[in-house]
Amino acid sequence: MSFYVTTPIYYVNDVPHLGHTYTTVAADTIARFKRMCGEETFFLTGTDEHGQKIEQAAAKKKLTPKELADNVVGRYYKLWEKLGITNNKFVRTTDEYHKTAVQAIFKKLQDNGDIYEGEYEGWYCTPCEAFWTESQLREDNLCPDCGRPTAKMKEPTYFFRMSKYQDALLKHIEAHPDFIKPESRRNEIISFINEGLRDLSVSRVTFSWGVKVPNDPKHVIYVWIDALVNYLTALGYTTDDDALFKKFWPATVQLVGKDILRFHTVYWPTMLMSLGLPLPKSVFAHGWWTVEGQKMSKSLGNVVDPFYVTDKFGIDQVRYFLLREVTFGLDGDFSYKALIHRINGDLANDLGNLTTRTLGMITRYFDGVIPAAGEFQDTERAIHTLIADTAKSYVNHMNDLAFNKALLSVWELVGALNRYIDSMQPWALAKDEAQKDRLGTVLYTAVDGLRALSYFIAPFMPESAVKLRSQIGINAEIAVDNVSTLEQSAKMPAGGKLGEVVALFPRIDEKEMMAAIMQDQSKDTPKLQEAVSTEVEQIGIADFEKIRIIAGKIEAAEKVAKSEKLLRLSVNDGVGVRTIVSGIAKSYEPQDLVGKTVAILENLKPAKLMGIESRGMILAAFDGERHHVVILPDSVPAGTKIK
Ligand code: ME8
Ligand code: MG
Repeated sequence: MSFYVTTPIYYVNDVPHLGHTYTTVAADTIARFKRMCGEETFFLTGTDEHGQKIEQAAAKKKLTPKELADNVVGRYYKLWEKLGITNNKFVRTTDEYHKTAVQAIFKKLQDNGDIYEGEYEGWYCTPCEAFWTESQLREDNLCPDCGRPTAKMKEPTYFFRMSKYQDALLKHIEAHPDFIKPESRRNEIISFINEGLRDLSVSRVTFSWGVKVPNDPKHVIYVWIDALVNYLTALGYTTDDDALFKKFWPATVQLVGKDILRFHTVYWPTMLMSLGLPLPKSVFAHGWWTVEGQKMSKSLGNVVDPFYVTDKFGIDQVRYFLLREVTFGLDGDFSYKALIHRINGDLANDLGNLTTRTLGMITRYFDGVIPAAGEFQDTERAIHTLIADTAKSYVNHMNDLAFNKALLSVWELVGALNRYIDSMQPWALAKDEAQKDRLGTVLYTAVDGLRALSYFIAPFMPESAVKLRSQIGINAEIAVDNVSTLEQSAKMPAGGKLGEVVALFPRIDEKEMMAAIMQDQSKDTPKLQEAVSTEVEQIGIADFEKIRIIAGKIEAAEKVAKSEKLLRLSVNDGVGVRTIVSGIAKSYEPQDLVGKTVAILENLKPAKLMGIESRGMILAAFDGERHHVVILPDSVPAGTKIK
């Protein structure tokens, strides 16, 4: 079975914030879960770069729209890389292949007789890029969706015969209860359609930043048409290279915020019907995050910067919080206090403590070697049953995108394991040599529970799962052949040695942290808004002189064990051979790099990565999907300075 999950493609008028992070983390979690279960998975995200809104935002910043897009897209690449997002592709609507495919799609709609010319007269909301009729507007001509002012417009346009598909769409929604989720949203859309679908204006003539209508370049294709079809163009639809499209369309689940559900469950499916394509199996609308009870907004200055929160609290901690704190589908409120409470409670106290005490006792009583289990008693059998039951409900909840319920059931197992240790009192057993076998059974059962937990937490907290697995001394790899693997227990190999034991989730001192945050907020830190600029800080030549970049020849390369990302490279720097650990394993096979001459940062302070000392850094461009190492001609000798 193949699994295709998408996020909205985000507008580049502004930099990513907590809301964008939420959708993408949710998509990443479900993609990781599916891959862990052995399903062939494709995960798409990207950016929406055309339209009037982007054109205006760029003009305000005195940039061309493309300059603005290039700048903001870099922030997205960086953020997703930082958060460990495993998208298979990143689509930009300014990519040539996308633009060509948008035109081909428009042409298909025309050829099917679903496009005609006319004149649009009505209202337009640029922030939403949405058309409204007078009767739909709120008081004072405000947009019914976002409450901002709309503008009256009258211009020639191409229309898409959306009305033609009204009945077919209603039938589809009724016959496929999973098509729009959650249920409450589905009812909302049904009543919207029942009010009657009008034909949709699908081109504009009063600005130019977009894809041109084929053979009529005065018209720019409506940005929502351009944007929605990304889910197809990214798979190669309309090109010869459409193997991905054949394999992955229709999408299994398309995640969107509730703000853009109508576009995804009315405009999108009617276009697909006109193209003769199957509809996505499910469009899931999640809820809206507020911050300390208020709408996130630039003017209130309360926009949560995902770089900042993850720097302060840790990536897995933030990923966990987002999916644990609220039911997926309902609105949620972000506050630093709530985040700290989740981290200290669920992570540091419950799971962290279970890990430290179990591993601490194995270190103390068994020299850090996993003891063999003796005979299991009812108490252990109860744990085994609980692991199997937890796996079953976890899998069901994950398949329903009920992330918080999945985590709740996992935390019941965490609680049960903590209580098991409390009541077995291994520290008391340890005092009696005659109980050594029993002590081994108890600690074996506890560490086997951690093994099971490492799977359950992996999609949510990938780094922590790897850390946990290396601490209990098992392969960091988290793939299972079959979901039923998750139900197994007593699978911990005895006799293995624990890795280095360190706290997975350090406790946060609430007072100190809140004070630090207040201080950061009061500092005149550059506003998100100002972060978008092509004006990077200027440096003098003396600053550059500090940086030594030289040519290096890669003599050997291998994957770093237990890591998906890292390669260990032996690089001749002209003087000797140094080890550089580089995070490019997803983009290169080790053998592809051997013999290549690359650019290295020579004087970077040495750092330990997965226990290996790395000296220097390989320079590479990262495009959101993969790294491209800077490769120099073979004739450049190792050690040559790059200036
Ligand atoms: O709408 N709470 O892009 P966009 C939860 N380009 N989710 C939030 C959020 C919040 N406060 N704020 C944003 C667009 N989001 C179009 C989409 S798709 C073909 C084109 C998330 O940059 C949520 O997923 O305005 C929402 O739907 C999306 O960001 C809107 O991103
Ligand atoms: Mg928006």
